[in-house]
Amino acid sequence: MPSKRYTLTAALPYTNGPIHIGHLAGVYVPADIYARYQRLQGHDVAFICGSDEHGVAISMRAKKEGVSPKEIIDKYHHVIKKSFEEFGISFDNYSRTSAKIHHETASDFFKKLYDQNDFIEEVTEQLYDQEADQFLADRFVTGTCPVCGHTEAYGDQCENCGSSLNATDLIDPKSTITGAVPSLKKTKHWFLPLDRYEGFLKEWILKGHKSDWKPNVYGQCKSWIDDGLKPRAVTRDLDWGIPVPVKDAQGKVLYVWFDAPIGYISSTKEWAEREGTDWEPYWKDQNTELYHFIGKDNIVFHCIIFPSMLKAHGDYILPKNVPANEFLNLEGNKLSTSKNWAVWLHEYLVDFPDMQDVLRYTLTANAPETKDNDFTWKDFQARNNNELVAIFGNFVNRVAVLTHKYYEGSIPEPSTYTSSDEAALRALQSYPKTIADSLGRFRFREAGQELMNLARLGNKYLADEEPWKLIKTDPERTKTVMFVALQIASALAVLSEPFLPFTSNKLKSILNHTALGSAPTWDTIATSAMLLPSNHTINKAELLFRKIEDEEIAAQLAKLEATKKSNEQEMTTNITPQKETITYDDFSKLDLRVGTILEAEKMPKADKLIVMKVDTGLDTRTIVSGIAEHFSPEELVGKQVTVLVNLAARKLRGVESQGMILLAEDADGRLIFVNPDDATANGSQIS
Ligand code: 2FM
Ligand code: ZN
Repeated sequence: MPSKRYTLTAALPYTNGPIHIGHLAGVYVPADIYARYQRLQGHDVAFICGSDEHGVAISMRAKKEGVSPKEIIDKYHHVIKKSFEEFGISFDNYSRTSAKIHHETASDFFKKLYDQNDFIEEVTEQLYDQEADQFLADRFVTGTCPVCGHTEAYGDQCENCGSSLNATDLIDPKSTITGAVPSLKKTKHWFLPLDRYEGFLKEWILKGHKSDWKPNVYGQCKSWIDDGLKPRAVTRDLDWGIPVPVKDAQGKVLYVWFDAPIGYISSTKEWAEREGTDWEPYWKDQNTELYHFIGKDNIVFHCIIFPSMLKAHGDYILPKNVPANEFLNLEGNKLSTSKNWAVWLHEYLVDFPDMQDVLRYTLTANAPETKDNDFTWKDFQARNNNELVAIFGNFVNRVAVLTHKYYEGSIPEPSTYTSSDEAALRALQSYPKTIADSLGRFRFREAGQELMNLARLGNKYLADEEPWKLIKTDPERTKTVMFVALQIASALAVLSEPFLPFTSNKLKSILNHTALGSAPTWDTIATSAMLLPSNHTINKAELLFRKIEDEEIAAQLAKLEATKKSNEQEMTTNITPQKETITYDDFSKLDLRVGTILEAEKMPKADKLIVMKVDTGLDTRTIVSGIAEHFSPEELVGKQVTVLVNLAARKLRGVESQGMILLAEDADGRLIFVNPDDATANGSQIS
């Protein structure tokens, strides 16, 4: 196969906190597996990442810690970079968006679009916090999502329904800096008119990538395009970021989502400069395959906005695929940096030294590829003890120990193969293709399980042939069995490299691959029945994995329990303060009734929304609610609920919602219906 050029990018993490297992499972582990795999195929790979150091997330963290944004980015950039290195994420370059090369690249990009008249320059009214003397955008403002009614949506995005928002779309906005209700103030900004790219996006995504992009990615893009694209501001009134490089733009910076993806380009430039190579083919040659590895919350930026920017610029290639993952939960709850509900990579590396591959394996086995998934410490222990130790490690250890015991480490000469030897070797030869096929479709879970199946094959082969018994009765036959088992071990050393790089290195060293004239490769495994020749000497056995004890898991669970307790304590001391006093007249305007849910179904293409028919006693009406992640439609039907029936109707994803169902939210984010104790006639008034 001729060598191809790949530019692989992994989402630039915000330097507002360390890396946790959610980031790893969603982005960095699959991206690293893919990069390592393509390198093993002999392809030319640039695997690119860096820290995302602008935007409100950083300013907010700095405010919270009472330090400057620069101190925040320096602190977390180094923590993140170091933990990625120790974890074996094989970036070719890990840059940062505060680097000079990035500021220049992003400024030049903006200027080119500006000079081409690709922006709309407009004075609009934006939310402004008088007390803080600051415009409010993105995470500096929260309010009610106009799409799903979630009351804590941010100015750029609703985390409940995933909608991307403008701050001025929020209902009842509130400043996150001072808590003040913002006013509107005029300010000038530059907008990227996404509507102008609708034709291009329809052609490129809706026609061009219907079958090869993951359904979740394609679906989100389609619903964006179908909803109609609008101009988006690409500048902000902030003091932290890349200054807008045109005149009359004092106090304005590039929107973080304008500069961050350009970070992939500047990081490639930094790498190429260091390597003494040319960066341009990696971004401009139509034969280069560009892939963005991201989490699902980044889909719109990588599939709609950045490609529109690249298209407008004109010089760049577009991504061939954007294999976005869903989210990983931890012990049944959403991972959260602010609530410290996470397994932090830098802490894991201290608690489980030299066990990087165990976490890589567990996260791959549970990768949230098609739906959100859960990480539990019990499962982590089971994957390690029952699979890595009991299957992979056990097989390799038996092979290495017996080779030393019977032949002083020298690989024996096989004689005639039996049908079971042939079957094992044939099966072995099929694995490179099987694993490659899964990786080619970004099915990392499946690929990882196939690797384990190869170890299973080895284990079963040894269990069936029992060389430890055979040695007493048929030493000649034992030689053949050990020869075949050694071939399987050698294949495992190569095929495990993308998934378990530390283990692969250890195994290659046990099998003394470096002493071979030509070491086995992904391709030779598929074609040759002799990866390790007779008379080649292997090194002493060394354990690849160790058992994880119950106490170690209990310690991790205790750590989480402590976090939960302290969060609960904080919740009780931090109960949302009582709202402003209202008069009885205000209250009496609310028309609250008992109703019964008659029908419920998930809204197509909207993860969080459920469309219900509710008997309110007055009528049967449609109500749309963002509760699909909490309740299945089946459990809703027949439920009595409290309905605010005189709320002005509004459209959610094209469906008119004619009221609101009342719910309480507890400290864990669980939703509970506010309903009458006993069956009550529909239409009964609540007052
Ligand atoms: O969501 C995030 O964590 C962003 N920092 C990802 C940026 S990806 C790229 F565009 F830089
Ligand atoms: Zn929403």
